[in-house]
Amino acid sequence: PRPILLTRHGESQDNVRGRIGGDTAISEKGEIYSKKLANFVRKRLKSERAASIWTSTLQRTILTASPIVGFPKIQWRALDEINAGVCDGMTYEEIKKNMPEESRKKDKLRYRYPRGESYLDVIQRLEPVIIELERQRAPVVVISHQAVLRALYAYFADRPLKEVPHIEMPLHTIIEIQMGVTGVVEKRYKLMD
Ligand code: F6P
Repeated sequence: PRPILLTRHGESQDNVRGRIGGDTAISEKGEIYSKKLANFVRKRLKSERAASIWTSTLQRTILTASPIVGFPKIQWRALDEINAGVCDGMTYEEIKKNMPEESRKKDKLRYRYPRGESYLDVIQRLEPVIIELERQRAPVVVISHQAVLRALYAYFADRPLKEVPHIEMPLHTIIEIQMGVTGVVEKRYKLMD
């Protein structure tokens, strides 16, 4: 059975500053991850000539994919990170200070950022990506973002909707999902801190 490899982009400049959203480049550490990832993909998908690499349209995923050679790369807008609307580019601290009455904690799944998205919105816009992933016969490497990968992972690992916003999705880690006849088999590769 063909694997699906899920990973977040390498650490971005905004990750370092604790800012959400944005479209910054990756940090030096992020670049190291991009090379380790390329190495991993080369070995893991050695004989898989039909494999493909899917990214979002944001710089940090495209840069993370750039050391990977020999496979077609496809950019999906639907793989872009949750749109934080008016909070885009803020730290969680700044959000708390500027919008004290907004509480995302109460219902993180349904909370929609003003002029942005909720997790439920993200889950909905991922539908065409999921349909296409289900159709693929060859392996796919998906390089995307924390919220989006939580939603994708929950779909394949059959996790309940209410858990989606809380699934652990660390940086610099590959989650490999194999769909076999007996169910889903999962492996994790933490390539660096
Ligand atoms: O901090 C990185 C990030 O990808 C942000 O761009 C995004 O808003 C956030 O994670 C999503 O995680 P959470 O829903 O837990 O805030």
